[in-house]
Amino acid sequence: MKATVMKATVTAHRDFTIARIDDRIYSAFLEHLGRAIYSGIYEPGHPTADKNGMRGDVAQLVRDLKIPYVRYPGGNFVSAYNWEDGIGPKEGRPVRLDLAWHTSDANQVGVHEFQDWCDAVGTKPMLAINLGSRGLDEARNFVEYVNGPTGSFWGDLRKKNGRADPFDCRIWCLGNEMDGPWQVGHKTADEYGRLANETAKTLRAFDKTLELVVCGSSNSDMKTYPEWERIVLEHTYEAVDHISLHMYFANRKGETQNYLSLNHKLDRYITTVESTINLVKANKRSKHDVAISFDEWNVWYHSNEQDRAILAGSEGWPHAPRLLEDIYNFEDVLQVGLILNTFIRKSNVVKMACIAQLVNVIAPIMTEPGGAAWRQTIYYPYYFASIFGRGTALQLAVTCPGYDAEHDDNVPYIDIAGVHDAEGGTASFFAVNRHPTEALVLDLSLQGFGGKAQVIDHQVMTHADLRATNTLGAQNNVVPRKGQGAVVAGGNLTVSLPPHSWQMIRVSLG
Ligand code: AHR
Repeated sequence: MKATVMKATVTAHRDFTIARIDDRIYSAFLEHLGRAIYSGIYEPGHPTADKNGMRGDVAQLVRDLKIPYVRYPGGNFVSAYNWEDGIGPKEGRPVRLDLAWHTSDANQVGVHEFQDWCDAVGTKPMLAINLGSRGLDEARNFVEYVNGPTGSFWGDLRKKNGRADPFDCRIWCLGNEMDGPWQVGHKTADEYGRLANETAKTLRAFDKTLELVVCGSSNSDMKTYPEWERIVLEHTYEAVDHISLHMYFANRKGETQNYLSLNHKLDRYITTVESTINLVKANKRSKHDVAISFDEWNVWYHSNEQDRAILAGSEGWPHAPRLLEDIYNFEDVLQVGLILNTFIRKSNVVKMACIAQLVNVIAPIMTEPGGAAWRQTIYYPYYFASIFGRGTALQLAVTCPGYDAEHDDNVPYIDIAGVHDAEGGTASFFAVNRHPTEALVLDLSLQGFGGKAQVIDHQVMTHADLRATNTLGAQNNVVPRKGQGAVVAGGNLTVSLPPHSWQMIRVSLG
């Protein structure tokens, strides 16, 4: 009997597009949490540290990612944070207890040090305001301190602390996960919506051009979702530009095929909030647009068990302990590829997204204090999407067999996103083969681009062991390799995608 070959037929056409991708979907997040800041980006005395105590090895790995924005300083941390603790001479800054993570923070990094680091690594800050334990007045003071002119109280204080020129931070998050009962200062949707609207109004009185992000749901399993979004937007619609969503991905039961269907849940989450935005827009007869800022996403579950003691408070108030240090495996490469593909396909409404987080804490980059910095497995799909996933998202027509899973029925074995870079004359395709044992032959029609397409790059990630990781002692166990066998003939690209694999195929369009 002749063995059947599993096939995916895909059609791409230069005129079938979704949206211009906002580069800011490749942004990231850094919180004062565990070793993200201390011995993550900041470690005076490290052999690679610069004059500000920032690690040069980490800075280079970050720089390579070309990250547009980094959200800071939290996260749950921000909901009890006093931004004033992080300014002025370092020796005078207070040590505070961090109520979110049961640790302590000596405030050696604050908004000045963070801005200097952003300048050094070629990114920009997206700052979060404390609307948990604090309110409108501290918010306006913070924004004036960061962006205000000298010749006024806060601008002059900034100058005294070393920066005469305003930082000119354009994007501000109005609190963090205010729907979460775990949050310091958790609020109902009405309470938060009113406060967020008044805060937005006040910040706009200072500068109407700021981009403001209001909190949506912490995840789509929250009891208050999606009513939270509707109520909060009813209060704030005209005053904000983005609504923030968060989602973390986990494979606690070790069920790979279900795990790999989670991005269908992500897709529904985004689509539901998109509909809610449109509902409120219609209710208000508004011309204003609100987009989604997916400003926390990643895999997070590997470290849950080892974090319990610290989070329960049984270790006192340690400074920068190992917390949320997920060691990612090859399976997570597939998951991160699927998440990024989803953002590309939803680029009509997702205008910002932040991988959470960036260094040590559920992060693509790991460090050893005094030692090396290395790339976790998930660094790679994020890197390739950030570098080559810029342009216009293509509306691909896809036909492929599928399987029934926890988060959807008939989940296609192939997940694919396409990006057309018209200026560069290239198209990049990011594909995951979800099938555990069978290769998939991709037949991708490029005839809609005319010209003579040619394969210019093909990167593949696959591994015999789904649980394989990159560690201090084995930093290159899971890495991309050059793919083989991708050819374009008669305007059709064909390539075989190995079982459980991620790949990027780039073509020049002639
Ligand atoms: O990124 C870790 C935490 O996850 C953040 O502090 C919080 O916003 C979310 O619950």
